[in-house]
Order: sequence, then structure tokens, then C-alpha cells
Amino acid sequence: MEEELLRLQKEACRDLAALQDLKDLEPFRVQYLGRKSEFTGLMRKLGQVAAEERPRLGKLANDIKVDLEERFATRKTELEEAARLEASGISTVDLTLPGRTFPIGRLHPVTQVMEEICAIFEGMGFGVAEGPDVETDFYNFEALNIPKHHPARDMHDTFYINESLLLRTHTSPMQARIMENRQPPLRMIAPGKVYRCDSDITHTPMFHQVEGFLVDRKVSFADLRGVLGVFIARMFDERTAMRARPSFFPFTEPSAEIDIACVICRGKGCRVCKQTGWLEILGAGMIDPEVFKQVGYDPEEYSGFAFGLGVERIAMLKYGINDIRLYYENDLRFLSQF
Ligand code: PHE
Repeated sequence: MEEELLRLQKEACRDLAALQDLKDLEPFRVQYLGRKSEFTGLMRKLGQVAAEERPRLGKLANDIKVDLEERFATRKTELEEAARLEASGISTVDLTLPGRTFPIGRLHPVTQVMEEICAIFEGMGFGVAEGPDVETDFYNFEALNIPKHHPARDMHDTFYINESLLLRTHTSPMQARIMENRQPPLRMIAPGKVYRCDSDITHTPMFHQVEGFLVDRKVSFADLRGVLGVFIARMFDERTAMRARPSFFPFTEPSAEIDIACVICRGKGCRVCKQTGWLEILGAGMIDPEVFKQVGYDPEEYSGFAFGLGVERIAMLKYGINDIRLYYENDLRFLSQF
């Protein structure tokens, strides 16, 4: 009797451990713990056992029964938990989980906007050229009709390297560099970094410009407006109004500052446009005959327009960024939004 009880317990434990499916639980219970089970049969036979053996064997049988019931309950919970996890798509070791990802870098918002600007002008047939950040006084000023001691130099807050070398204060030197090497007709843009000794919420000592110019016979201010109108419609949207305000640059005549209707309030007046309804986005004008003379073009035969736009400023307007310094703090929480 004792042997049989222990054998049954052993078998039950083995079968229970091998049990993998919830639906196998019930057959197991019937087989080992049910009313018609071998175990119940043995319990019944206890009555026939010798009286002095009965208490010990009775206790043994009962302990085994309690033990099996407990093990059965535990296994049942385990299998139910596994089934629940599987149904929810999660398992304790989920081999389908993706591996650890490494953060992927992306283009800086200024680079993105610069590429977008270039793509718009390339779409209108403009070629792209790049020039040096360290520029000569000649190309940065002299060739652009800004002689030494000209008051316009004061506006540029120039970083000088020595007497004749400096960090370019604008991309306009590219006008002279390109024109002296090529003949009209010409349509070019020149994106790049520029430097000015200035720093506040709208100025950083280094920023980006895209220079553009077009030279041919009979180019007029209307052509300038037409090209810039297409640019503004593509960069912002078709409804964005534009206006030209008279201005002065030594290398263009006439010169203008180009405004667009405030992209925030649509011209009604707000904090961003300082209640004017307009935002300045670029400087432009008809290339001054003095510049043509410097590069050997005949001002009687050719005319052209030029413009220079600030990339950070356009990106700020496009994305509603209110502090230019955010671009250069390298805070990924800011940069990864673009
Ligand atoms: N170079 C000028 C600036 O940086 C902008 C400009 C470019 C104006 C071309 C006219 C023509 O302010």
C-alpha cells in the first residue's frame, strides 16, 4: 500500500511537470485526483488495512493528496499565466523584440532649410557654387564697391584675421568670384557660412546665407520680383504676400529689402512682426555697374540682380523658433524635432 502510494505520487509529479497545455490539466486531475482515480481507489482500501497501520498510512495518503492538489494548483496558475502572456503577444523571452537601437543622426534644421532653398533655386535653373569662409578684404568689400573707410564697413562687424584677410561677413563676395571667371548669361546661388561679431537672440557670430544672382541682357527689377515671388511661394505658401522696401547696399542700385507678410498673423500684426504685419527676409537689388566694371563686364550691355537671404531667419519663420541661439546649443531635444 505504502509503495503504491509513493509510486503514484512520483508518477503524478512527473506527469504534472511534463504538462504543457491548459487543456491537459483536466485529464490529469481526473486521472490522479478524480473520484474514479487509482488514488481514490487506494484511499478506499485503507479500510481493509490492518488497524495498527491505518493511522500512519491514512496520514501518508492524505499528505500526498494535499501535496498533489497544491502542485496541481501551482501548475495550473503557471499555465494560465503563460497562456495569458501568449494571447497578449508578450512572452517572457520575446525573440521578436527589436534589438537595441542606436540614435540615428539627422540633418541640422539649418542644413535642411539651406538644402530646401537651394533646391527651389535649382528648380529655376540656378547653378550652385561654394567659396571660402576665410576671404580677402578685396572680395568681401573692395570688389563690391565698398572701399576702405566706407561707412558701410561699420555695419559688418568684421572679424579680421590680418590686414587683408577676414571671415567673410556675407556671401556676396561669391558674386565677384564667379563673375570674374565666367561670362553672362549667369544664374547662380552660393550657400555658406558667414561671420559677424554680434550675438543676441536674433544674431549669432556665425550664421548662414544663400547668395543668388542673375546676369544677362535686359534683366530688370521685375525679373528679381518674379524669381523671389516663386521662391517665397514655394518656401512658405502661395498666399504669402511680398513687398520691396527701398534700401541701400553699395553693390546694388537700386537696392531693396524684401519683406513677406507675417507667417504667424498673416499680416494682421503680432509680436513676431512687431505689429507691422511684415517680416524682413532678404536684401536684394540690381547689381551696381561698379561691380560689373570690377569683373570686366560692360554695364551698358549687361544688367543683373542679386539677393542675399539669411537661412537661420527663414528657418525661424518657417518653424516658429523664437531664439536663434537654439540652433547652436546642440541640445538634441531641440534638434530632433526637425
Ligand atoms: N550681402 C548683403 C547682406 O549680407 C545682402 C545682399 C546680397 C544685398 C545681395 C543685396 C544683394 O546684408
